[in-house]
Amino acid sequence: MKIRTLLIILLFVASCNMADREREGWFVDARTEKRVDSLLDLMTLEEKIGQMTLFTSDMDVTGPFMRDHYVESIREGRVGAIFNAYTAEFTRKLQQMAVEETRLGIPLLFGYDVIHGHRTIFPIPLGETATWDMQAIKESARIAAQEATAEGLHWTFAPMLDVTRDPRWGRIAEGSGEDPFLTAEVARAKVRGYQGDDLGALNTMLACAKHMAAYGAPQAGRDYHTVDISEITLRNKFLPPFKAAVEEGAATIMTAFNELFGVPATGSRLLLTDILRDEWNFNGFVVTDYTSINEMVPHGFARDEKHAGELAIHAGVDMDMQGAVFHDYLAVQVEEGIVDEAIIDRAVKRILTMKFELGLFDDPYRYSDPEREASLVMTEENLAFARDFARRSFVLLKNENNTLPLPDDVGSIALIGPLADNQRELIGSWSAAGDYTQSVTLRQGIKNRQGNQTRINYARGANIDDDDRTGFGEALRVAAMSDVIVLAVGEYALQSGEAASRADISLPGVQEELFDQLVRLGKPLVVVLMNGRPLTLENIDANACAILETWFPGTTAGDAIADVLFGDYNPSGKLPVSFPRHVGQIPLFYNHKNTGRPKTEFKFTSKYLDVPNSPLYPFGYGLSYTTFDYSEITLDKNEMSMDGTLRASVTVTNTGNRFGEEVVQLYIRQLVGSITRPVKELKGFRKIGLGPGESKEVDFELTWKDLAFYNADNKFRAEPGYFHLFIGASSEEVQKTRFVLTE
Ligand code: BGC
Repeated sequence: MKIRTLLIILLFVASCNMADREREGWFVDARTEKRVDSLLDLMTLEEKIGQMTLFTSDMDVTGPFMRDHYVESIREGRVGAIFNAYTAEFTRKLQQMAVEETRLGIPLLFGYDVIHGHRTIFPIPLGETATWDMQAIKESARIAAQEATAEGLHWTFAPMLDVTRDPRWGRIAEGSGEDPFLTAEVARAKVRGYQGDDLGALNTMLACAKHMAAYGAPQAGRDYHTVDISEITLRNKFLPPFKAAVEEGAATIMTAFNELFGVPATGSRLLLTDILRDEWNFNGFVVTDYTSINEMVPHGFARDEKHAGELAIHAGVDMDMQGAVFHDYLAVQVEEGIVDEAIIDRAVKRILTMKFELGLFDDPYRYSDPEREASLVMTEENLAFARDFARRSFVLLKNENNTLPLPDDVGSIALIGPLADNQRELIGSWSAAGDYTQSVTLRQGIKNRQGNQTRINYARGANIDDDDRTGFGEALRVAAMSDVIVLAVGEYALQSGEAASRADISLPGVQEELFDQLVRLGKPLVVVLMNGRPLTLENIDANACAILETWFPGTTAGDAIADVLFGDYNPSGKLPVSFPRHVGQIPLFYNHKNTGRPKTEFKFTSKYLDVPNSPLYPFGYGLSYTTFDYSEITLDKNEMSMDGTLRASVTVTNTGNRFGEEVVQLYIRQLVGSITRPVKELKGFRKIGLGPGESKEVDFELTWKDLAFYNADNKFRAEPGYFHLFIGASSEEVQKTRFVLTE
């Protein structure tokens, strides 16, 4: 039987292969469909369910429970995909079991969380987004795919597209912040970067847009907690990045852990079928998150796991990650007539199609190649890109009296803080196969830049998160004898990411006390932040001379930070998320509504008694070592018709004395709508470079689609009426004009 199957497959492969590879994207053509069907015809129900089952190996731990029999399941043909297994050698070994020991020899699909690099680690995704550089983001995904596929992987569980307005939620580190438009742009760049235009190429992999949907809106910022938002908010704020990923051809979608409208996302027919398949025409496959079918039982939505499986498959799930619910119950449910085998066939076809597209039936070992692994991973080019990408992700939050850049001839630096000489945290959470012992510390980076020219007086001063103050004395001593203090503070890498919510988002431990004591010395004090979320920084902002937000910068962290501290690179990052003044302001986001009582100095208006409404640093904010001037906005017309376009331009001038890059941002506000509209919404941006004194005109073109939103009937429509249009350097620092949209 096995020989017969292989013959059929090979026949098809030989006849169709070349033509397929020339095709764009992965969309199924008739011949692939035929090959899939002929294989499906040979499969038993058990073998089909195997293809719908994904188990973790024991190489990495990314969830609450493991199963020890994944190897036996591979040998029995009862699992079609494995995650948390990589390296050419290990994937080849497991693949051999599937291909040589099972009846049909169907190759395994290997998935992994390749989120911000595979071996060469880039900044955490929040930092990547702060570059506002979609070309670079795409390139980072391309490099990640190249490294990951060389280690036997076919499928990444990325990009993570969960818009969030809550920095208490640890997974804010893994996404692109608070804005649907910006996150949608990142979605497109990342899907293109991972998948390229040929899934059959050896250096591309399946992307997985996750977690559908609204996982970024848990109550009180606590991970996995209930989500309760309106469908309008879902469609306007949380779904656009997923829609963009589907439009871009994302091969797979992952469900979310949370409930929405009282239904766990993994059991939501609305999300997984009505919207994803029927509205968006998605034709890849849907995988659950880790045991999220089983979790429908504690959610209180399914009576038991068997019932949960039935709900999941009927909602639109194709593959069960780690829960073994399909594995344990689906065959019985078919016998009992609870589940129609045709639904199983449809899911299996979607999954097998991807295996064909990847070329696994040509050669199941093609990705598990030790030679490619040795030559393509952590190359000099990849590290050079990582360094440039990292420095582009940094956001200069404050720079009083041009404290930065530091002069080349600075005599001595007091380098203080728990992150000044730390390697472990630099690669952040979800760092795939990244090896932190290869990462460059800040201390090393400054040493690499300055050699013996500058004395580095290092003191740890404090730990990240305890109350040990015994290092303060030494820190103050080295600070007193140095020209400038560089204080590197922040969070542990695992204080953000999954299951890492914080109720207090100030600097952990006694780091801020250490800062206060250093401030009293009256020396120039530069704070370098490493953290996975916005922190509350009012005191730091009031008292530091300069603040550089570096997120978790990845493998080349220290060199990249030194590039910026000494001005080899002029910072150009902008915040993809608002930084609150106080945790009590959360959720705080720039694209909020106006309310019926917008804030004035009078009592009965929408405000706090103790904190301003505004953030400390707004969305889109970030300084440069140079300055930019914005002209007034020019519109090509003041009235735009529904089928017309509107062109808006500004001239941006570099008014300083060094080259710099600026992210020019365009926002709109519709003044009156059939439902109330946000006070600002990002609708475009351009990153431009300008030499000293240089000016550039920046043009944006809007169509009705840029002005449209999901209305109360869930229809995506633009409505005639008056608009404000803003262009500027952040969501707050803008020029403003108006126009009207007519029928
Ligand atoms: C996470 C997913 C991840 C999966 C596999 C889950 O806990 O929520 O984002 O892809 O584990 O590691």
